[in-house]
Amino acid sequence: MKLLVINGPNLNMLGQREKSIYGDMTLESINDMLVKRANGNAAVEFFQSNHEGDMVGMIHRTDADAIIINAGAYTHTSIALRDALLAVGKPFIEVHLSNVYSREEFRHKSYLSDIAIGVITGFGVMSYAFAIDYFLEQNS
Ligand code: DQA
Repeated sequence: MKLLVINGPNLNMLGQREKSIYGDMTLESINDMLVKRANGNAAVEFFQSNHEGDMVGMIHRTDADAIIINAGAYTHTSIALRDALLAVGKPFIEVHLSNVYSREEFRHKSYLSDIAIGVITGFGVMSYAFAIDYFLEQNS
C-alpha cells in the first residue's frame, strides 16, 4: 500500500511557527516519525506546498492508494481541493495538529470534512500517526 501525506500552506514552517499551537517538531521530523510508524507496512510519500494549484496537481497525479491531508488554511477556503479529491475518488483523512473547533470560528468550516473518511484534529503530530494507523489497519 502506498500512502501520500499532503501538507498545505505554512506547514513547512512547523518548528518555528506558533509553537504553542503547533508544537516544536519540524515537518521533516514529523515525516520521519510517520515512516517509522508505518514500519515497512506501507510506503509513505510526502508533499508540501504553499500553493493551492500545486496541491491540486499532486492530488491528480499521485498513484498512492490513499491520502492523508492537512490542507492548512486551504481547508477552510478551497473548493478546488475539494473538487480535486472528488475527481480522483481516493480515500482520504483530513488531519489537523490543532483542534480547529476550539479556535476561531472561521476554522470551524471545512470544505473537505464531509467527503473525507474522517477528520482527526487536535492531537498534535499524533493526528497524522492515527491516520497512518487507520490505513495500516484497513490494509491488514
Ligand atoms: C491547521 C489548522 C488550520 O486552521 C491552519 O490554517 C493551519 C494548520 C492545523 O494543523 O491545526 O495552517 O491545519
